[in-house]
Amino acid sequence: SASSFKLLVKNATQVVLVCRNGEKYLTRDGMQTLAVVENGSVLIGHDGLIKAVGPSDIIESQFKGAKFDNVLDASGMCVIPGLVDAHTHPVWAGDRVHEFAMKLAGATYMEVHEAGGGIHFTVAHTRSATERQLLDGLQSRLERMMRAGTTLVECKSGYGLELDTELKMLRVINSARNSLPIGISATYCGAHAVPKGKTMEEATQDIVAQQLPKIKMQIASGELQVDNIDVFCEKGVFDLNSTRCILKAGKDMGLNINFHGDELHPMNSAHLGAELGALAISHLEEVTDDGIAAMAKAKTSAVLLPTTAYILRLSPPRARDMLDAGVIVGLGSDFNPNAYCCSMPMVMHLACVLMKMSMPEALAASTINAAYALNRSHTHGSLEIGKQGDLVIINAPRWEHLVYQFGGHQELIRFVIIKGEIVYE
Ligand code: NIG
Ligand code: FE
Repeated sequence: SASSFKLLVKNATQVVLVCRNGEKYLTRDGMQTLAVVENGSVLIGHDGLIKAVGPSDIIESQFKGAKFDNVLDASGMCVIPGLVDAHTHPVWAGDRVHEFAMKLAGATYMEVHEAGGGIHFTVAHTRSATERQLLDGLQSRLERMMRAGTTLVECKSGYGLELDTELKMLRVINSARNSLPIGISATYCGAHAVPKGKTMEEATQDIVAQQLPKIKMQIASGELQVDNIDVFCEKGVFDLNSTRCILKAGKDMGLNINFHGDELHPMNSAHLGAELGALAISHLEEVTDDGIAAMAKAKTSAVLLPTTAYILRLSPPRARDMLDAGVIVGLGSDFNPNAYCCSMPMVMHLACVLMKMSMPEALAASTINAAYALNRSHTHGSLEIGKQGDLVIINAPRWEHLVYQFGGHQELIRFVIIKGEIVYE
């Protein structure tokens, strides 16, 4: 009896596996030599998982007589794994285009924040928005991300800063997970800022004693799915002790630690992350050499966000030093009302130009390493048998066009496929 499959993508000029043999992440040497098959095919089963990937002639003879629901001829095109965006804040109401003008005129991020703008502005609008409004906004943003090749994305709460709105945001993320094909890793970020009218100590106590227990109950009852815990560890926001206290409480209830650290000031966030067994720390513009070494040793990944440094005119994170030290480097868009970027190809471009990453490093950082940061590298981030069938098909004869061409990705990305289903063409 002939077997049947959901999708065969055949005759692609290049199929970029990223890695093989079940590697969970790539550090510098691996990243420089991505596994690429010339003239390759990818076969995806009805369960949405990859059944075969390799040279087209071998796959053709191996699956002669099989039935395929769908066949894509990718001649002249390239296939890469679906992109993974390891850091976004996509649930909010009220844009901040007016603050962009202030920052262009010279205001710093913290000046805007301390004047009651920034996160506080977004919190006020997000608190008063309905769940429906927030979901509509989130869905259209996630669709733009998918259109740009993202097939798995981390989504944070954190514009509520009080229980009801944080829960509202987490429910909205849950609804998007159930209504869109894009994969979502949900992060509780109730410690994104100290809410107006509270001290840092009061806010920490509220999170640990009120918010987290309630979230834990809703996870246990199946109402919510939450994967990670986040804190903005920064001078004037949450200090190292409060950050430790919140992250530990989250870890005790089974969440992965994935937090904002060492962005505007060196905070010893990297040491804290290593100490707590964090899966990832984001930003790290101000990380110290010791911090880098601690992260490499603990296998705490660095999620670097080139859009933030770009838009705030900060010096970019030291990606080269981290790579040289053996840190697992991932990338994220940091999509939020401050850094309004839905496109991982744009992020890879910025990572190469501003942070001196190579194109293979940027791709590994936007696939297998970003998946590692989200604890999904066993299912996502490379084209290997048994992994989820998430692909991006690029209408160009070499995959590097995705990084080289900046802007205009709608024309360059020909298909986006999630679990063997075409979500964009
Ligand atoms: O990752 N640094 C803190 N959080 C966000 C910004 C959020 C905001 O400004 O609304 C970031 O850049
Ligand atoms: Fe962020």
